[in-house]
Amino acid sequence: MAKTLAICTHKGGTGKTVTALSLATGFADDGQRCLLVDLDPQAHSTIGIGLDAYKLSLKDFFERHPGLPLRDVIQSAPENPHLDIVPSDLRLAWTAEGLSGRPKKEELLRRSLRDVESDYDWIVIDTPPSLGVLTQNALTASDLVLIPAPAEARATNAIADLLELVHVLKGPGFDAYRILLTRLDSRRSVTNQAVMKALEPWKDKILDTVIPESEPLNQAQMARKDIFRFAPDSTGALAYRKLIKEIKTL
Ligand SMILES: Nc1ncnc2c1ncn2[C@@H]1O[C@H](COP(=O)(O)OP(=O)(O)OP(=O)(O)O)[C@@H](O)[C@H]1O
Ligand SMILES: [Mg+2]
Repeated sequence: MAKTLAICTHKGGTGKTVTALSLATGFADDGQRCLLVDLDPQAHSTIGIGLDAYKLSLKDFFERHPGLPLRDVIQSAPENPHLDIVPSDLRLAWTAEGLSGRPKKEELLRRSLRDVESDYDWIVIDTPPSLGVLTQNALTASDLVLIPAPAEARATNAIADLLELVHVLKGPGFDAYRILLTRLDSRRSVTNQAVMKALEPWKDKILDTVIPESEPLNQAQMARKDIFRFAPDSTGALAYRKLIKEIKTL
């Protein structure tokens, strides 16, 4: 049975997509069967995985629900035999708006994933920078919520707001969430210390692995490659390898 990991925060540009792509490709490289679900209309994970041609996307799944099984939307990822993807496209933004009046709209993905979860060891969900219906679907479907937080002002506000939604959707006692420090620039030591102090209330939830600011991670996005193929010895690749090991212990 798959473990489902939602990578969420409504703060933009925190490394959600880079983390989703790195985890998904890393799990698959380890021989574990992985499904990457791109819930972001920006489709950055779909683009990043190198997928170009696909007929159906999550937009079709939500629009035709329950007429179109999720299985029909799943594509094989190029270059990685253990990795599949449910692609996204910009039109998903408008489809999501249309879901707003629908009862139990936040459960659509979770219920459909049940049909495919025995095919995978991991399901990794990339989400948009919002707390809307798409992120709500990701949270509802998840076993573990991963919150990427860069070491900068206002990172803590985003965590508090997101956790409020998490507890509404998953119950006040839900504690299977972890904070991942991302884009850490060790030269900004005063800022980093201040951020760590602000994160004190969640100190037990902060993962040991820290993702440094690492230019090859950015370049890999431009090249539409995962970091393990683009720059396997970079600090970014090493950090994401460590993260994969740590996530497997949770
Ligand atoms: N550790 C890192 N080092 C250097 N660049 C990074 C790192 N993490 C992410 N980036 C770059 O920062 C930008 C934002 O990262 P990413 O797209 O992963 O964030 P996001 O949270 O998914 O953004 P959005 O909220 O728009 O979906 C991208 O251009 C990415 O290549
Ligand atoms: Mg993204």
